[in-house]
Amino acid sequence: MPAHTFTSSAPLIGRLRVPGDKSISHRSLMFAGLAVGRSRITGLLEGEDVLATAAAMRQLGAHIEREGDGTWVVHGVGVGSLLEPRQALDMGNSGTSTRLMMGLLASHRLKATFVGDASLSGRPMNRVITPLSEMGASFEASAGGTLPLMMHGAFPAVPITYRLPVASAQVKSAVLLAGLNTPGITRVIEPVATRDHTERMLTGFGAKLEVGEENGERVIAIHGEADLKPMDVVVPGDPSSAAFFLVAASIVPGSDLVIENVGLNPTRAGIVTVLKQMGADIEELDSREVGGEPVADLRVRHAPLTGIDVDPDIVPSMVDEFPVLFVAASYAQGTTRCTGLEELRVKESDRIAVMAAALTAAGAQVEELEDGLIIEGTGGEPLRGTSNASVKTHLDHRIAMSMAVAGLASKDGVEVDDTAPIATSFPTFMELLEGAANTP
Ligand code: S3P
Repeated sequence: MPAHTFTSSAPLIGRLRVPGDKSISHRSLMFAGLAVGRSRITGLLEGEDVLATAAAMRQLGAHIEREGDGTWVVHGVGVGSLLEPRQALDMGNSGTSTRLMMGLLASHRLKATFVGDASLSGRPMNRVITPLSEMGASFEASAGGTLPLMMHGAFPAVPITYRLPVASAQVKSAVLLAGLNTPGITRVIEPVATRDHTERMLTGFGAKLEVGEENGERVIAIHGEADLKPMDVVVPGDPSSAAFFLVAASIVPGSDLVIENVGLNPTRAGIVTVLKQMGADIEELDSREVGGEPVADLRVRHAPLTGIDVDPDIVPSMVDEFPVLFVAASYAQGTTRCTGLEELRVKESDRIAVMAAALTAAGAQVEELEDGLIIEGTGGEPLRGTSNASVKTHLDHRIAMSMAVAGLASKDGVEVDDTAPIATSFPTFMELLEGAANTP
């Protein structure tokens, strides 16, 4: 459990490149593992969550190797040909690996056990168990629909039309992935659009997938039993990782930083919009396309921020960025109100309660709501910091990185109880932060 104190920082200067997008990295390994033939992946995020997906896909029969130059090569087994895993699939801290894999396996005739760490073992799985059971799979889960759980997949599974009761790309993807090996057409109705990497990438891998609209809702139809063709995937940089540096450079006086190669898919880029609404100085440079996703370099300079009411409609496009947005709000002038955040309570930790406690410990003024947080900013003055106690991160990488950022503009520094979970999504975080703060 390495604790670390993040203290008042020199200006963040220079250029840096954040690692590959986590959502796209998981999907590239899974889809390549289902394609017949050889796929190559460049820019893969080599974080623990994605490595858990790689290990699980190997247990299911895919050949996955990392070459010396960092390219990953995958020989897939073909849709319908996944093998029954001999041991439990250890998903570590990763909800995405778990829920997407449950979907993949639900329409194969095999049984599989899923296990994970303490954080993952507390997270709700009924949201995928319900639709996958309708398709024919059966489950024995721990109390409250949690891991460890055992699944019996079904073949042939039954195609369903499923309307998402929560805005979740993981649930959407689980049903669509089960649909890959299900005869007929499986449909998902999304009342609120969530990240669309599954749709974009499955189309690239050759699946027949249609996206339409009915009564103002997004409808995605996937045709089973699909044949996936191998492809080369270039993974853009993760906007969720870039977000920590966007906020850090905004609140540390004198900063002027370029974050290269940031994915700006509109279903992910809400944080840039909201920070700009607060007065952040963010410029998009060299906008281009990488691997079918919009990408730009982001230049961010220190700027005074102002509190705003965050539009709840933007929540799905920045669902993982609220912890660090709360930090930005703590240094803004005036009040920031964030609502519509009930999903934050079931992430790697209860991110509303955990951030409220952590920011309060660091001297910020926050009020916790059932579905959000109200934050009274310092107007750019340093937060006090934690002086003699450490903030509790509850095995949540994004809490650790958010509170690290909070420390950079604080008076006494912020001690984070455990920085190890940062490696799940952003193994180079500490080194990039140090590099940017020590650039003359
Ligand atoms: C993800 C979807 C989101 C997000 C997670 C990654 C994905 O979860 O929080 O980090 O890759 O599909 P939900 O679908 O549960 O909102």
